[in-house]
Amino acid sequence: MKDFNYYAPTEVAFGKESEDKVASLVKKYGGKKVLVHYGGKSAVKSGLLDKICTLLQEGGIEYVTLGGVVPNPRLSLVHKGIELCRQEGVDFILAVGGGSVIDSGKAIAMGVVTDEEVWNFYLGKSHPSACLPIASVLTIPAAGSEMSESTVITNEDGGVKLGYSDNILRPKFAIMNPCRTFTLPPYQTAAGVTDMMMHTMERYFTKDDDMDLTTDLAEAVLRRMKTAVFDALKNPEDYRSRAQIAWGGSVAHWGLTGCGVEEDWATHQLEHELSGMFDVTHGAGLAAIWPSWARYTLHENLSRFVRFAVNVMDVPNDFTDPEGTALRGIEAMERFYHAIGMPINIKELIGRDITDEEIQEMVRKCSRDYTATCGGLKVLHADDMETIYKMARG
Ligand code: NZQ
Ligand code: ZN
Repeated sequence: MKDFNYYAPTEVAFGKESEDKVASLVKKYGGKKVLVHYGGKSAVKSGLLDKICTLLQEGGIEYVTLGGVVPNPRLSLVHKGIELCRQEGVDFILAVGGGSVIDSGKAIAMGVVTDEEVWNFYLGKSHPSACLPIASVLTIPAAGSEMSESTVITNEDGGVKLGYSDNILRPKFAIMNPCRTFTLPPYQTAAGVTDMMMHTMERYFTKDDDMDLTTDLAEAVLRRMKTAVFDALKNPEDYRSRAQIAWGGSVAHWGLTGCGVEEDWATHQLEHELSGMFDVTHGAGLAAIWPSWARYTLHENLSRFVRFAVNVMDVPNDFTDPEGTALRGIEAMERFYHAIGMPINIKELIGRDITDEEIQEMVRKCSRDYTATCGGLKVLHADDMETIYKMARG
């Protein structure tokens, strides 16, 4: 069992009336002039943006707005946000949206307080010592950024998508009103659930399988999300299932389901190259990679894959054939992905065959020019990455 530090400082306001607390929460965490950061159109169309701005105004809090964050958020808008915050004297970032808006907000929060080029943090060339406080009004449960220490940004120059993690980026508060997720299209609902399940699976598939409580919690999260997604897809305005998913996105990623274990994250690393190159939805990219990663790493901890098959995917345990049971678990996951409209390989994800050159380019980027590895259950070198991408091509 691995020693661990547990740090989850984000205050959560959850429920139908939660948005009404926005001004008092901003004040509580010291915000006097806020950047209200948002995405394309959903928060405008639903009236959420107007409501948040009105509540801030009524609470006597100054604000400026910056919209236009796209999925796989871009570095150029981060630069624009940094500039705007400096001009306006912004001291608090409020992201109204999903993972992309929050991640863009985190990048701005780091960039405002330093002369360093913010991309250098993502490149690992330097580390920020401070950042502006950040918080969110969440509209899509998926990335878990509302409580996580991570931000993932795409540099349009070269289509490079990189993450940076640091506890200073843990948001001060997150407002979650499940009703705001009723408008999510089925694809985003399914991709979001796929992502949150993967956040827990990246921690579940580990060699450290002696922290039983963590494993039990992880299985409960996975089973509940697996059921709730069908209810939400069937009835998008079902508060009960939307609420499970809204909370599940945070529970899956703030660290609880990884206490005491060595984490993996290879599927995420491999996927970031897909969404960096093809601008696809992150959750769908994960579904396209995971079955191939799982088949490739199965024997690193076969009993864990058997446990997943039986306890999460409801596969009958054939005690005479653990490998067969484990493989049937992976097949059951593929059926689940298809049932919720997710791809199970790259061809289904991008709608055409991926070329050998594109695979080589992803391997080069994922291995940081053949200098880096990824993964914990099995450490993946460039040749392993290439094998998995080829297995996943479809
Ligand atoms: O831009 P708008 O119009 O708001 O549309 C968004 C966007 O097109 C739409 N949407 C959001 N809320 C909605 C809605 N549509 C209707 N009704 C609503 N209530 O959904 C689309 C996707 O939004 P996005 O913010 O991109 O989704 P998500 O939360 O999945 O974030 C994905 C990003 O997070 C990164 C991913 O790599 C990706 O860039 N990740 C961040 C992590 C972190 N910071 O800890 C961890 C994750 O593993 C992930 O890598
Ligand atoms: Zn993810």
